Amino acid sequence: MSRVALVTGGSRGIGAAISVALKAAGYKVAANYAGNDEKAQAFKQETGIPVYKWDVSNYQACADGIAQVEADLGLVDVLVNNAGITRDAMFHKMTPEQWGEVISTNLTGLFNMTHPLWSGMRDRGFGRVINISSINGQKGQMGQANYSAAKAGDLGFTKALAQEGAAKGITVNAICPGYIGTEMVRAVPEKVLNERIIPQIPVGRLGEPEEIARCVVFLASDDAGFITGSTISANGGQFFV
Ligand SMILES: NC(=O)c1ccc[n+]([C@@H]2O[C@H](COP(=O)([O-])OP(=O)(O)OC[C@H]3O[C@@H](n4cnc5c(N)ncnc54)[C@H](OP(=O)(O)O)[C@@H]3O)[C@@H](O)[C@H]2O)c1
Repeated sequence: MSRVALVTGGSRGIGAAISVALKAAGYKVAANYAGNDEKAQAFKQETGIPVYKWDVSNYQACADGIAQVEADLGLVDVLVNNAGITRDAMFHKMTPEQWGEVISTNLTGLFNMTHPLWSGMRDRGFGRVINISSINGQKGQMGQANYSAAKAGDLGFTKALAQEGAAKGITVNAICPGYIGTEMVRAVPEKVLNERIIPQIPVGRLGEPEEIARCVVFLASDDAGFITGSTISANGGQFFV
């Protein structure tokens, strides 16, 4: 029987590559998204992966969405917490709304998605939770106090939960991508990319979403059963912890 994988923000960017790679590896995949129906429907058409719309910052919406996915595909074995947003501003200009939206999506979203699935994973003695954090949660980034705080929080969440899940066959790991060539990053003016960002990356290029997806497929596999609480830094050598 195929395992079931649920990818938040799985309809575009890094999440889309993760959904596609997990499907290719034999999982039944559900891709969640927030609101971009057009992109989600195009993704579904192209890949055959079903898409489900809810907001990961809303606990009840997550519980209801997960129940629908499990009714359609079966119990979720692999959760990839990938959905994320930025609301960048220098701290002296950052509004409470910018802070709150990023924390509730990028950090509380992990609680909202993992909590409804956790008891079932414990009962079945198997689970994989893979959290997509960021290089900027490791090193901090000016203009991103909200994002850096949330992404650093994701790493603490990962390490604490890994200890709770270990005896129950559940692994919890994080991936910290560096700059990956998604819409989020390609929206940066080309001059800034070429003159300021890429020169900071020792491999001399942006990462590809598929390079993050391959890390996820490995962490989801039985081969990775001894790896828990860890952080994979996939950043082209830009930052070493
Ligand atoms: N790109 C990078 O260089 C980079 C680097 C480090 C870390 N990351 C992290 O990697 C993850 C994916 O980034 P990306 O660049 O692929 O982002 P992206 O292209 O902007 O896609 C974000 C995805 O998340 C979904 N989403 C956003 N808010 C949501 C919410 N409240 N509830 C449910 N889904 C929501 C979006 O849905 P809609 O399509 O409906 O909007 C979309 O599917 C994020 O956590 C990001 O912080 C990215």
